[in-house]
Amino acid sequence: MIKESKGCFELHTAHTTYAFYVLPTGQLGHLYYGKRLKVSEEAMAEKHAFAPSNTITPDQEHLEFSYEQGPMEISAYGKGDTREPFISVVHADGSRTSDFRYRSCYSRKGRTKVNGMPCAYGSEEEMEELEIHLTDNSYKNELILYYVVFPACDVITKRAVLINHEEEKLVVNRLMSSMLDFPEDGFVFTSFHGAHCRDVYEKVDRDVLPGKIEASIYAGVSSNRCNPFTMLSRKGATEDFGDVYGSNLVYSGNHATIAELSPFYETRLVTGINPAEFSWILKKGEKFETPEAILSFSPKGFNGLSQNMHAFVQNHIVRGEWAKKDRPLLLNSWEAAYFDINEHKLLKLASEAAKAGCELFVMDDGWFAERSDDHRSLGDWEVNVKKLPNGISGLAKKVNDLGLSFGLWVEPEMVNVDSDLYREHPDWAMAVPGKDHAEGRNQRILDLANPKVQDYVIEAMSRIFSEEGVSYIKWDMNRIVSDAYSPYLSAEQQGEALHRYVLGLYHICDVLFEKFPHILFEGCSSGGCRFDLGMLCYFPQIWASDNTDALCRVKMMTNYSYGYPMSTVSAHVSACPNHQTLRITPLETRFNVAAFGVLGYECNFCDMSKEEMEAVKAQIALYKQWRHTMQYGQFYRGRNNNLHEWCVVSEDKRHAAGLLMHELVLPNFASHRFFAKGLDPKKTYRFTNRSLKHNIKAFGDLVNAVAPVHIKTDSLMQDILAHFVKMDGENENYLVGGDLLMHSGIALKQAFASTGYNDNVRFFPDFSSRIYFMEEE
Ligand code: DGJ
Repeated sequence: MIKESKGCFELHTAHTTYAFYVLPTGQLGHLYYGKRLKVSEEAMAEKHAFAPSNTITPDQEHLEFSYEQGPMEISAYGKGDTREPFISVVHADGSRTSDFRYRSCYSRKGRTKVNGMPCAYGSEEEMEELEIHLTDNSYKNELILYYVVFPACDVITKRAVLINHEEEKLVVNRLMSSMLDFPEDGFVFTSFHGAHCRDVYEKVDRDVLPGKIEASIYAGVSSNRCNPFTMLSRKGATEDFGDVYGSNLVYSGNHATIAELSPFYETRLVTGINPAEFSWILKKGEKFETPEAILSFSPKGFNGLSQNMHAFVQNHIVRGEWAKKDRPLLLNSWEAAYFDINEHKLLKLASEAAKAGCELFVMDDGWFAERSDDHRSLGDWEVNVKKLPNGISGLAKKVNDLGLSFGLWVEPEMVNVDSDLYREHPDWAMAVPGKDHAEGRNQRILDLANPKVQDYVIEAMSRIFSEEGVSYIKWDMNRIVSDAYSPYLSAEQQGEALHRYVLGLYHICDVLFEKFPHILFEGCSSGGCRFDLGMLCYFPQIWASDNTDALCRVKMMTNYSYGYPMSTVSAHVSACPNHQTLRITPLETRFNVAAFGVLGYECNFCDMSKEEMEAVKAQIALYKQWRHTMQYGQFYRGRNNNLHEWCVVSEDKRHAAGLLMHELVLPNFASHRFFAKGLDPKKTYRFTNRSLKHNIKAFGDLVNAVAPVHIKTDSLMQDILAHFVKMDGENENYLVGGDLLMHSGIALKQAFASTGYNDNVRFFPDFSSRIYFMEEE
């Protein structure tokens, strides 16, 4: 609900309130953001009898004001607010000072779209918009602020548009998407950092103390180094209690979020396109639009905030035919064969995938031109007929005949120097003309700022996507930006190159996604190097990391879950020793972790033992039964240390699944409990686990403690025995209330602790895990 009365604006969602007002100086001041309440401007507005000493007052008429103290709604550089500004421009006269004052407001059901960039969507009933116009007191430029309220998921979005009304061009050095001031201190800023194979691996919590904390990137992509999702919480907040704010951007390029504690102990959070290395020339009458920022608040801890974000992403970001559909269970060829693929090999894999119960077979890199390694051919999107004599559609048909749908890998934004495309159009790649170029996976980035390049990508991809039988595309992007320079733009426009790249990408996506509505697109950028809300507007799921090690994945998926729902997180079971870490984790743990996301397999089914394939078949059958809950249920984080605990609950709260995984065995520590979250306390649930059999080889020579004859470890005798004798795993089976499951937890059967083993003991060595199922009875 949006309310305006005498220059005071209130935005209410189901459980939150956001309010700001027009200051007596004409600028906008901020009143409040947090738990829903009745607003009183009189009580909430900062009092101004005198300005703090050694600060700047706006003019002779307002000597009691200083923009440096008190929460502002937006702050322009130059009039005495020394905090991080929302906007900073250079006027034709060289001045960098702006002074925006309130002029008018409009509100409406529904929303105004962002030009050239994706934004959150919804029906007219699901969202309302407030539009505020401000004018620069001296230069007459217009700043428009848009607020969209999504009441059901407690989200408010913000963005800005600047229009140049000066006679000459001006240079925008920064225009952020959101600024949020709090009149107090005591916050913790949380951001997510990592690298390739360590995507969002580090969750970093920093106290907001005097000064600034910045979570930002200039990689050209939103990046695995620093995700655009951040949180601000009141000190002491936990997963389930306390005030937590979340901020994200519907944007896929350079971004920055800065948390600042001012000299007056007030907190500011600004987010938007990274102003560093950015500038935009705005000619008379032209507009510059920012991407949309997403804000949410929950008084119910980090899980509460995550739930808001998950509902928002599922209902207002991810769109198209696949938005709410159960995602197919796939086998991807990459880790099974890397570049060494051909039709025969792929069909053997696909045939095993079909037998195991997979639904989709994906041919990864290596199928086109001379692509036998990562040195060549990106840009030459013609099938290699030596590898695929029957072309894409010929292979697709054969895969379809096995009962699987078919999909393939592309990397449309890139070109290798060793390619016909580069030989023909060297000026289509980003590069500083005539200067040395830095290398990244032997490839260059196409200059998507150039409309001709955009048309080429659309045309080349349309040909592939139109091939008969293609129902899924993995869209990869394996290089971050260096030598950021668009040969298409003039020298003075080079500060625009990276934002124009992102706009070009969005244009390409808009055209292709409209043209191929049935295709399921999976985003990828060396894994999660572009895991953001901009991409999720086109790609319902994103390959979360090139690292499939279950221990790393449990941490990464936990971190993704703060801002993104599991229906967007693509997760595969791969071979062991793991190809990224050489770590050996149990097949069941690899499955148990991946099953909480969009499950797939990425290993050589042809080389796996019969026993392993039987296990895989059982996993796939189980996942299909639980898939909807796993992908679309409400996801909660529990403990997250040596033990990792998750719980996902169906919308009607009748079904839930929980993960309990531990990293390393703590000797003589056998008692674990599983705690559920999000259940209906009044419902009665049957709590069970999967009854598994364990290989006696895992007990080494301990079997000699009970065996009638001596069995040497790694002997033929041990192999034969292992083939015929399996150790029964523990069974858990209780009929209990939701309240018990959440508050007392289930005391699980004791884990093995060197004193013997039977089916009342939980086989739980390093990296073990269980999924527990809870079903209403
Ligand atoms: C990087 C991706 O993340 C991998 O899954 C794989 O598709 C390779 N690129 C292929 O080159």
